[in-house]
Amino acid sequence: MRLTSFRTRILLLGILFASIIVAAVLITTYLVVADGMDDVAATETSRLAARAASEVRHAVTTSIMDARRSGLTGTQAIAAAEVAFANSIPERFGVAQGFLEGSFAFWDPALEEPQYVSAENSVVDDDAGRQRAVANAESVEAHLGGRPLVLNLFFAPDLGSYVVHVPFQRPNGHTWVLDVVYWPVRETEAIERIRPPMLALSALAILLTAFILRLTAKWLLRLVDELRIAADSIDAGLLDVRLPEASGNEIGDLARSLNALIERLRRRSDMQTRFVADASHELATPVAGIRGYIGILRSWGADDPEVRTEALDAIDRESRRMVRLTRQLLGLIRSEHELEYHSVRHDVNAVCREVVAGAESRHAEKDILFTGPPDTALTLLADPERVEEVITILVDNAAKYTQPGGSVTVSTIGRKGDVVITVSDTGPGISAEELPFIFERFYRSDRSRSAGSGGFGLGLAIAKQIVDSSGGLIDVASTPGEGTTFTVCLPKGRG
Ligand SMILES: Nc1ncnc2c1ncn2[C@@H]1O[C@H](COP(=O)(O)OP(=O)(O)OP(=O)(O)O)[C@@H](O)[C@H]1O
Ligand SMILES: [Mg+2]
Repeated sequence: MRLTSFRTRILLLGILFASIIVAAVLITTYLVVADGMDDVAATETSRLAARAASEVRHAVTTSIMDARRSGLTGTQAIAAAEVAFANSIPERFGVAQGFLEGSFAFWDPALEEPQYVSAENSVVDDDAGRQRAVANAESVEAHLGGRPLVLNLFFAPDLGSYVVHVPFQRPNGHTWVLDVVYWPVRETEAIERIRPPMLALSALAILLTAFILRLTAKWLLRLVDELRIAADSIDAGLLDVRLPEASGNEIGDLARSLNALIERLRRRSDMQTRFVADASHELATPVAGIRGYIGILRSWGADDPEVRTEALDAIDRESRRMVRLTRQLLGLIRSEHELEYHSVRHDVNAVCREVVAGAESRHAEKDILFTGPPDTALTLLADPERVEEVITILVDNAAKYTQPGGSVTVSTIGRKGDVVITVSDTGPGISAEELPFIFERFYRSDRSRSAGSGGFGLGLAIAKQIVDSSGGLIDVASTPGEGTTFTVCLPKGRG
């Protein structure tokens, strides 16, 4: 059981919350009941005190009247009444007298001990209360002993005793105090009866919560475990693994997002593998050519100057091809890792015209009609070098694949927030089946391969990468036999 694990934390937190809630509910219920019992005891005591007070006054009056009736007067009558009163106390307030549930003690305030007690537990230590009753000539209520109500939940309940000090005048005129003591036995029993079920209920509620939480945590963690196992196999390089998406909950959503991520990673990894394989293959071809011509040079180069020149020319051609390829590859890798763009405001028409002029001179022998954009300026905020690179790739392709006598046109147009550059040619066009692939690295149509046009199939991939990372779009439309149009749409940039 690790403290840092979700399982343990959820469990502990749950038990804590459950305990707090259960405890709050139970303690409140208990307090209401206990408080009610307290009230009942206090009311019972007052009732008892009222009856006892009337009883004691009645006893005093009766004994005085009896003495007078028997013909006594003065001090004799008082002495007789005193004796009669004292004698009547056990009878009226004795234990045998079932009319009262309390117990009683008669105190002479001048003495430290009570003069008559009906039961042992009727002697309470509350001199101050008694003195107050005498001084004010009225009953004083007191609640003595007992525990705070909350504690009674956890220990055997103890409500203490309820006392009323009732002052009264004896036949001889002295003021005495009658203590009416009530021990709330029935109320204590009532509390004692609800205490165990409450404690048991609390324990049960907490256990139940723990159990439910355990189940929930187990279910949740099983889902997480499934994800972890799947993630572990991905870690081991198995990108074909998919996480279980079945559950219609947040973990299912997480699995779906992760699956999408894995799919992207897999495609990327596939692309990378293919890229490395294609690049090695493209590099291996010129290297094999160079090695072949070196063999020829070694064998016949010394004797035959014609063979030597031919071999050296071929080695030169192949090595140039390698240089071109490595340069393009480097360009691709560079732009993959965020090319540095130095955006400046420039005239995109001028850039296009320069590219067209360059292509014209490079493809002079092909007799192609090149048309560039007009002399007017069209401003664009972008890196002019990158823009030039893209247009050069497109114009070179157009010139390369168009037959002699054809035409290549570069035009530009400024729209709302964009600049749109189109490069169209009257070449052989690209078939609909090939169109989706031409922007892929190393893709060359079979026709271009067999024509031996010497490319690597990287030009359009590079162009697309540059346009994409500039926030633009590149598209192509082609009709086989009629020509091809590439459209590049670049955001004009702010201002
Ligand atoms: N203007 C075009 N007309 C007809 N086909 C084209 C045109 N532009 C591109 N293609 C086709 O798209 C393929 C990919 O072009 P891309 O520029 O990427 O490679 P490439 O020209 O063959 O080689 P590289 O540009 O690396 O020297 C070409 O092989 C060709 O089949
Ligand atoms: Mg090309």
